[in-house]
Amino acid sequence: MAEDSQTRPNKRSDRCALVTGGAGFIGSYLVEHLLRDGTSVTVIDNLSTGRIENLAAVIDSIEFIEADVDKGLEELASHSGFDEIYHLAAAVGVELVLNDPINSIKTNIHQTDAVFEYARSHGKPPTLIASSSEVYGKPGTSVFSEDDDLLFGPTTMTRWSYAHAKAIDEHLALAYWNQHGLPTVICRFFNTVGPRQVGTHGMVLPRFVAAALKNEPISVFGDGTQSRCFCDGRDVIEVLPRMLRSQACHGRVFNVGSDHPISILKLAQQVINTLGSTSIIKLIPYHDAYGPGFEDLHHRKPDLDRVRQAVGFDPKFTLTQTIQDLAEEIAHGNSLPTKGGA
Ligand SMILES: NC(=O)c1ccc[n+]([C@@H]2O[C@H](COP(=O)([O-])OP(=O)(O)OC[C@H]3O[C@@H](n4cnc5c(N)ncnc54)[C@H](O)[C@@H]3O)[C@@H](O)[C@H]2O)c1
Repeated sequence: MAEDSQTRPNKRSDRCALVTGGAGFIGSYLVEHLLRDGTSVTVIDNLSTGRIENLAAVIDSIEFIEADVDKGLEELASHSGFDEIYHLAAAVGVELVLNDPINSIKTNIHQTDAVFEYARSHGKPPTLIASSSEVYGKPGTSVFSEDDDLLFGPTTMTRWSYAHAKAIDEHLALAYWNQHGLPTVICRFFNTVGPRQVGTHGMVLPRFVAAALKNEPISVFGDGTQSRCFCDGRDVIEVLPRMLRSQACHGRVFNVGSDHPISILKLAQQVINTLGSTSIIKLIPYHDAYGPGFEDLHHRKPDLDRVRQAVGFDPKFTLTQTIQDLAEEIAHGNSLPTKGGA
């Protein structure tokens, strides 16, 4: 793929960044953003859910290490040191976590610890980790603030293992900050969507869009009244370097996402309307989709005061634009399964 003005790196600064999970959906946009601001970038990604195609426009401008995070860090043992580290690699998606909980838990805890240990022993650069709105669990409120109590379901329900693992990552980040003075920043991403996101592991919007493009039924899990706030990944990544480069953000937790809720049923309808599709909507009970006892949250909306006050956050992409761009990408070859939903 040819480079365009969107992705062409600017003149190099002396700053260099490490991005784990840089071939993934969010990570690849972050890599392009860092290159545009003149930062040189090293990516570690094992391509388990990421795609090298996501980096096609910039692959000649970065150092790419195809490996698990811990193995990639071993290769970088003699590196002179990064100025900033973004740890986005993780086992992501409800289906992946339900289908392979052992590897998901190990990946989401062990690889994060490997990143912190590397950072601690290589100059203590500011280090950001991607956490998740899942860590809120199932509290009684529908607007989630960073200092709220977290309320998880029982350990017998596998779906909560992702939330537990991400919460352990957060504890680790804060412990490295408090015990070693490693400047860490924790980002709790809410539902992040856009081109490059694939639907293979339970992601709702790519599945809806892929089904709508084929005029096939869109499966909505539950009764569809559950709501989520969707933010485009291209908006989310803009704020990450600002947080990492602001000392006031170190040792803190931030919600990052949209605060405009939409029910999943309305989302399916908006996809159909935006794409002029003839798809029908099918409601699938949760137990048919995920097995007996699956617990989902009814509403999930972030309180964004903290991130807005700290570094400003003003997403630009409308949901309609995101749906159109995702549809364009899928229509041009990012083929996705159409079964399932949210
Ligand atoms: N997309 C969302 O809505 C969302 C919401 C909350 C949190 N997050 C978090 O944001 C981060 C990025 O998610 P994404 O949506 O871009 O998902 P993604 O699956 O596209 O990106 C994850 C990347 O990590 C890589 N990876 C996985 N395990 C690895 C390992 N052991 N070693 C090296 N690379 C590995 C994958 O190949 C992939 O490129 C993740 O930490 C995820 O938990 C995402």
